Amino acid sequence: MGGQEAGPSFESDIKPLFRDKDRERMEWAFDLSRYEDVKDNAEGILQRLEDGDMPCDGGWPEERIATFRRWSEGGMAP
Ligand code: HEM
Repeated sequence: MGGQEAGPSFESDIKPLFRDKDRERMEWAFDLSRYEDVKDNAEGILQRLEDGDMPCDGGWPEERIATFRRWSEGGMAP
């Protein structure tokens, strides 16, 4: 992190949170493995994660949601 106050980045912190299943089942709407797609849909994705209704086979623990929230509110670094 080179001594900088770096927040989460898509490649190292966000992308690994999504399973292959998540990506496959959401492909009709957006590609969860693509930075641009997740960035453009970040608000809706965060909403679903917070509501606990996505992924529909079991919501994320708060810690993961917090990581996504920090990323989406902190500049969405690639
Ligand atoms: C704007 C955000 C999202 C919207 C509007 C959305 C909407 C939907 C809808 C309408 C379905 C099909 C109906 C259903 O099975 O409930 C679905 C399926 C699914 N979504 Fe999402 N989703 C969003 C984000 C996510 C995220 C962030 C994940 C993973 C972290 C995810 C994982 C899944 C999975 C795994 C399924 C398939 C469930 C199954 O059939 O077993 N979705 N989503």
